[in-house]
Amino acid sequence: MTGTAAGVLARAAALGEVSEEPGRLTRRFATAALRRAGELVAAWMEAAGMEARRDAAGNVVGRYAAAGGDAGPPLVLGSHLDTVPDAGRFDGVLGVLVAVAAVERLAERGERLPFPVEVAAFADEEGVRYGVAYLGSAAYAGLFEPEWLDLVDQDGISAAAALRGLGDDPSALLRAAVPRLAGYLEVHIEQGPVLERADLPVAVVTAIAGQSRVAVVLRGQAGHAGTLPMTGRRDALAAAAAAVLTVERVAGATEGLVATVGTLVVGPGAPNVVPGEARLTLDVRHADDGVRLDALRALRDEIGRDAASRGVDLDWAVLQETDAVAMSPELRERLGAAVEAGGHAVRRLVSGAGHDAAVLARVCPAAMLFVRCAGGVSHDPRESVAEEDVAVALDVVERFLRTS
Ligand code: HGY
Ligand code: MN
Ligand code: MN
Repeated sequence: MTGTAAGVLARAAALGEVSEEPGRLTRRFATAALRRAGELVAAWMEAAGMEARRDAAGNVVGRYAAAGGDAGPPLVLGSHLDTVPDAGRFDGVLGVLVAVAAVERLAERGERLPFPVEVAAFADEEGVRYGVAYLGSAAYAGLFEPEWLDLVDQDGISAAAALRGLGDDPSALLRAAVPRLAGYLEVHIEQGPVLERADLPVAVVTAIAGQSRVAVVLRGQAGHAGTLPMTGRRDALAAAAAAVLTVERVAGATEGLVATVGTLVVGPGAPNVVPGEARLTLDVRHADDGVRLDALRALRDEIGRDAASRGVDLDWAVLQETDAVAMSPELRERLGAAVEAGGHAVRRLVSGAGHDAAVLARVCPAAMLFVRCAGGVSHDPRESVAEEDVAVALDVVERFLRTS
């Protein structure tokens, strides 16, 4: 079943069982579960005739040598192995497994291309553990920021300590140079409903929307729920609730803007204590960076004014800004031709979701192929893809490799 869509689905099921938590799929950066998933993928890479390695960030990379030895920079295929909490089985994993299967097809025919191929299984795209996305692909692309090693997770464990705990040397991340890459292609589920509504199996991505990630802390004054009068309270959670509704209203009023408060932590967190502190995260995205940044300023001003009216202080820390990025016109055309050669209409889409391709696009030409997913559902265990759509994607990647 190697080199087939059925094989991809079987392996996705196996990886879906490799989790930090019993009963649901959660696989964060620099965890033993991510390490185990990487070991599975490395074994499949080796069986496909690749040399597999793990880098200091925990990325697993397989290299399929070129015909006549390793001439020139590799064409990279890949995606991420980490997941959100209670994830589906295909976000990231599909791209890694389709890439391995495409190389398996070459190996089964004893075929080598005039350039090396690397398959990259990135250790962190979601940014769940440390709030900053793309730690894996940034490390692979030589773009890792030193201060990221000092980020701490909800348990106070730094990224450096987490990596050392798995036997890696995080300082190696700071020495990584930007590699010479011929190009990057990522296959990924669409995570939206467009392809299903258009009854199409795949789409070519034209650009990836920009995104801002912000950590917001609202500090009021804790107090006794029974004796503190409503007048004069400095209730941090009330300020946070107003902030969440402001985010919803401002985003809803701006064409093409999406903004989400995905986490909210209340302190001290007791039924009979007026909350003194509320910590929330803000994720703001738009295809146009100017619109996104204007919206961010408007949100900060409006949330700040409302908090001040409640006697609550606002702390606003931008964790990460990722500008919108266009996919390579040349690779997009080649990918479109590979889709068309398979008898499928070429649908072009902007990605609202972030992807490792947004990082690789900073160091080489990058392209993405979206695959239809049921109901457009993602970041949820209901995530699923049809075997025949995976087969289409695999055929497209094979044709893309031959025309590269
Ligand atoms: O958040 C995203 O867009 C992606 O799933 N990391
Ligand atoms: Mn995701
Ligand atoms: Mn993803």
